[in-house]
Amino acid sequence: MANVTFSSPVLARDVTVYAIAGDRGTILAVAKAHKIPIPFDCQDGECGSCLVEVTHLSRNQKYGIALTEKEKEMLRQLGKISKAEIEAAEVNDMPPRYRLACQCFVRNEDILVKFEGDQTLP
Ligand code: FES
Repeated sequence: MANVTFSSPVLARDVTVYAIAGDRGTILAVAKAHKIPIPFDCQDGECGSCLVEVTHLSRNQKYGIALTEKEKEMLRQLGKISKAEIEAAEVNDMPPRYRLACQCFVRNEDILVKFEGDQTLP
């Protein structure tokens, strides 16, 4: 079981949901299932609209991840990944601070997901 807490200026308050362990859902899939309005478009790691900041809350070490070339390249284009983070991801499989919600799978660990959302007023 993993607690995923969503935080955004477009939410009245933070929302914590439970993601089922072993569920290979992405952050975006979990958000959609709970009606959390993370912006998205392509759902394939190519537009960058689902950018989120992920904080790992578990005390134990972060889960290693294999950052795909596609996600790495998009984060680079968005200016949201540093050289050191690219190296940490490539060498040690350490996840960078910013991720694409459509490409980031929820693991069995508690995370905080921050996103900007669409703040356009009606
Ligand atoms: Fe396009 Fe995630 S929705 S990169």
